[in-house]
Amino acid sequence: PKREYLLLDYRGANNCVAVITLNRPKALNALSDPLMQELNCTIAEAEAQPNVAAIVITGSEKAFAAGADIKQMQTRNFVQVYKDNFLSGWDRVSSSPRVVIAAVNGYALGGGCELAMMADIILAGEKAKFGQPEINLGTIPGAGGTQRLVRAIGKSRAMQLCLTGEMINAKQACDWGLVSAVYPPDQLVDEAVKLGEKIASKSKVALQICKEAINKSYDLSLTEGLRVEKQLFYSTFATNDRKEGMTAFVEKREPRFTDS
Ligand code: HXC
Repeated sequence: PKREYLLLDYRGANNCVAVITLNRPKALNALSDPLMQELNCTIAEAEAQPNVAAIVITGSEKAFAAGADIKQMQTRNFVQVYKDNFLSGWDRVSSSPRVVIAAVNGYALGGGCELAMMADIILAGEKAKFGQPEINLGTIPGAGGTQRLVRAIGKSRAMQLCLTGEMINAKQACDWGLVSAVYPPDQLVDEAVKLGEKIASKSKVALQICKEAINKSYDLSLTEGLRVEKQLFYSTFATNDRKEGMTAFVEKREPRFTDS
C-alpha cells in the first residue's frame, strides 16, 4: 500500500525488526486521523510478517511526534468528538502481540508522549523532550497521559508535568524511569534495532506470554497478578520452545526456537 505519512522497512537478521518512521515533517509528525489510520494498518502489516518479533516506532531527530493534530481538532465540538469516537483507534500500539520499542528523538509531546508510552520499551536520544502540554490548550491528555504516566513516573511528577505543561529532557526521563536508556541521536534507531534483534532471538510465543503477564500488572492486585503470572508460566509448558530452551541448557548448547 502507498504510505503518505510514514515509512516502513525491515532490519536486523532475517528482517526480524520492523522499523516504522513517522514522516510528516512539516507538522512535526502531528498525529492526524489519517496518520493514525496509516500507523495502525502498518503495524498490522508488520505483525503479519512471520519473521518480525519487534517493531520500532520512531520519528525524526527534531520530533518523534508533537502531539495530536491541533489544527484538525481546533474546530471540533463535543458532539463531534464523542459521536465520531475520536480517539478510538489510538490504542492499537498497546495491544500489539509483538514487542514494540519507541525510539524517541526530539519532541514527544501530548499524544506523541502517549504514543511512546503505549510501547513496551522507550529508548531516547539525548535531545529528546517529553511533555503533556495539553493544559496549555485548555484540555487534558486523552490517550493515556493521566494514566500511563502516573504508573511510569509516579503521581507527583505526573501531576507536575500535566498541570504545568512543562517538558522534561531525556536524562530526566531516564532518571524518572520513563525511558530505559539514552543514546546519541544518530545512534538511537540502530540501538533500538539491536535491542529488537536481541529480543527476536527468543521464542516469539514466550515473548508474547511474557508481555501479557507484565501488562496484567497494570490492571490487577498483587494477589490476582501473581495468580495470572503462575497460570501463564504453566502455559509455557504447553510449548515446544519451553522444552527446547531447557533441553538446550542441559545439553550446553544454544536453543533453536521454532515459535511453536
Ligand atoms: C498541528 C503542529 C503541531 C501539532 C507542531 N505543528 N505541532 N501542527 N498539531 N500538535 C506544526 C506547526 O503548526 C508548524 O506548522 C510546524 O509544525 C512547525 O512547528 P513550530 O511550532 O513552528 O516549531 P517550533 O517553533 O520548533 O516548536 C516546536 C514545538 C511546537 C515546541 C513542538 O510546535 C509546539 O508547541 N507544538 C504543539 C505541542 C502540543 O501542544 N502538543 C499537544 C497537542 S494536544 P505551520 O505550518 O503552522 O508553520 C494532544 C492531545 C492528545 O496531543 C489527546 C489524545 C491523543
